[in-house]
Amino acid sequence: MSFVIRAMSEADLDAVAAIEVATFPVPWSRTQFAEELEGPGRLWLVAEAHGAVVGYTGGWVVDDEAHLMNLAVRTDHRGEGIGSGLLESVRSGLAERGATRLTLEVRPSNREAIALYESFGMSVVGSRPGYYAVSGEDGLIMWGDLETGPTPDEELTILAIETSCDETAAAVMRGGRRLLANVVASQVDFHARFGGVVPEIASRKHAEAIVGVVDEAMLAAGAELGRDDALPFAELDAIAVTYGPGLVGALVVGLSYAKALALATGKPLVGVNHLEGHIFANALADPEIGPPLVALVVSGGHTSLVHVPEWGVYHTLGETLDDAAGEAFDKVAKVLGLGYPGGPVLSRMAADGDPAAIDFPRAMLTSGDYRFSLSGLKTAVINHIRHEREAGRDINIPDLAASFQQAIIDVQVAKAVRAVRETRAASFCLAGGVAANPALREALRAAIEPLGVRVSVPALHLCTDNAAMIAAAAHHRYLRGERLGLDAEAVPGLRLDPAADV
Ligand code: KG4
Ligand code: ZN
Repeated sequence: MSFVIRAMSEADLDAVAAIEVATFPVPWSRTQFAEELEGPGRLWLVAEAHGAVVGYTGGWVVDDEAHLMNLAVRTDHRGEGIGSGLLESVRSGLAERGATRLTLEVRPSNREAIALYESFGMSVVGSRPGYYAVSGEDGLIMWGDLETGPTPDEELTILAIETSCDETAAAVMRGGRRLLANVVASQVDFHARFGGVVPEIASRKHAEAIVGVVDEAMLAAGAELGRDDALPFAELDAIAVTYGPGLVGALVVGLSYAKALALATGKPLVGVNHLEGHIFANALADPEIGPPLVALVVSGGHTSLVHVPEWGVYHTLGETLDDAAGEAFDKVAKVLGLGYPGGPVLSRMAADGDPAAIDFPRAMLTSGDYRFSLSGLKTAVINHIRHEREAGRDINIPDLAASFQQAIIDVQVAKAVRAVRETRAASFCLAGGVAANPALREALRAAIEPLGVRVSVPALHLCTDNAAMIAAAAHHRYLRGERLGLDAEAVPGLRLDPAADV
């Protein structure tokens, strides 16, 4: 199950109150939560999965002691690590606010919660008789120490910058999964009128946006940590940046800025492969996901199946011989006059169409390997459109979109199934902009989950280019001791797997 932990806001209160009612015999009201959110020294967090609130917790700091006030996980999401994720985040947040010890009350019959707190080093020190008025149960009092001082893994704070294509993005991540800020400035409107990304425009727009985007991320990170000002660069542990693959003139902007920041602050620079970032968008949402895994990387520039036996080791099983999947979506949309990028609009239209309406070719479906070819499909679709127009017939765009999309999906799914079988991977990740395609997500889940393989898809807003995924990948690289020199150059053709010979 994929989830992210973030600060609770007013907009979450209905969902929170609903979980509260389903969890506790004497629930807090929505108003109580609203008042709590405003209270001094409070820290309220929610866990979100697939856009819905599935858990929450809150604590209160007075001097150096913190009180855990509440922690609940929606009944249908228990046993997925959400409770311990919430507890871990709230503990580190309370420690940041100056607390060195944590206390709470728990019902003696709630064995599961007690075990969770014990696993975080807390122990029962006494009881409050009749604390729970309705059931008449005593309240057990638990206490535990909070770790203070940075522990490299949980406290590691990384600023990541991404400018490989047409989004200028910066993110601040703590502990490899707590997203303190995630800012994406899209240039897509500037490119849309040209029907694709124009490299010169991309470089210029990145240069215009980069300073503001990074400053905004540091300000948001400061706010997320309860400060009135931006997080100072001095409090970062590292600066990470995408150094390839991508458009050279676009990569250079982010890389130069990151190098300058690293030089000015004395912080280490960590270089990330953009495609590795896309794969890590999965780990961001689902902390349990990890190697050995197979990733299907489908974006505007890439279509490949990658075997990841351990983080940092990537074996390309096969890739496209010509067009990338996202590129095929973009080109078909362009011919239909649907604008750029084509994926989102075509997939919306496909939802209302018949995927069996037109029998488009499924190239390489039975090739017995992991290579893809998409240019024939693109040509077949374009020929079909031309043919229908010449014959004076109206084109049913939903049917065409659905049939085209299905032809892509059939091949992707068949090869992905073969790859997880052959590598015996425990997990499967979908990555890249095309991972936002709902039909592809669904088809992969339906085909792969029955094999007993964990299937992960990134949160929708983390499928297309962003810096949060770069920060997640950088966290692992940093811990492995990987650093990029200040003389590093952008590598537009950077490969995930330098040994790939496909
Ligand atoms: O990863 P990304 O943001 O940029 C690259 O690294 O290429 O991917 C962008 C690509 C575009 O080709 C876009 O049309 C495609 O992802 N895309 C989609 C969908 N959303 C974005 N393709 C199919 N269905 C979608 N819903
Ligand atoms: Zn991308």
